[in-house]
Amino acid sequence: MIGKSPIGVFDSGYGGLTILSDIQKLLPQYDYLYLGDNARAPYGSRSFDVVYEFTLEAVKELFARGCELVILACNTASAKALRTIQQNDLPLLSPNKRVLGVIRPSTEIIGEITTTNHVGILATEGTVKSLSYPIEINKFSSDTIVTQQACPMWVPLIENGRHLSEGGKLFIQEDVQLLLSSDPQIDVIILGCTHYPILKSYIESIVPKNVKIVAQGPIIAEKLEDYLNRHPEIENKCSKNGEIHFLTTENKIDFDTKASLFLGEKIDSEHIRL
Ligand code: DGL
Repeated sequence: MIGKSPIGVFDSGYGGLTILSDIQKLLPQYDYLYLGDNARAPYGSRSFDVVYEFTLEAVKELFARGCELVILACNTASAKALRTIQQNDLPLLSPNKRVLGVIRPSTEIIGEITTTNHVGILATEGTVKSLSYPIEINKFSSDTIVTQQACPMWVPLIENGRHLSEGGKLFIQEDVQLLLSSDPQIDVIILGCTHYPILKSYIESIVPKNVKIVAQGPIIAEKLEDYLNRHPEIENKCSKNGEIHFLTTENKIDFDTKASLFLGEKIDSEHIRL
């Protein structure tokens, strides 16, 4: 049985599992409660108001289930809802609880990875339009040139398990080529959507050898470890039995089948309504 204060990990669907997997590898001692809002995914093309409303519902659910700390393991939710939740909702809802996003960690260190100082972002339409990546990267390295490419077909392809079909590969090639032709000096590409690490090896096979593909999971895991070290008031409250429990707003059997493919282990989730 999962402990009473797991770390909450939220995504619109399956993408956050890539983040959970890296976090759990580095920090296996904690309990985790994963929530996938699969019934309402994808979030990428939804408006700010809707993404905010759905994300807040998910955060409230995870708080009600004992989480003291919730990671929005979704770039779209981090871009469109995190700031409002942190600034407006948390103080009223639960001032001692914390919600963290996934955009800041990679933007803090990307300036150290690029040598040309030209960085590419592949993300959902919502994340691209929010300009969160260029704004955050330029806070830490003001002379870095950031070029973005929205990939609206990728999440539906991944959610449906069709990303490596011949048709799926065509969409991926087209978006990657558009990004690289917009700025041929790009030498680092951030996968700015938590669904995309599942495509990392394929993307590596179609870009020039000097272009590094950066997935967020390992960076987020390290930043979370650092955060917990710096915040003992939160760390002390997190339960530590090494357990994970999964919640989905869609059909449990579908979630278990697809999530097992993502994580490479058998999943037994629980269906909930938000
Ligand atoms: N995996 C999410 C992200 O990182 C959301 C994708 C979606 O639901 O469109 O942006």
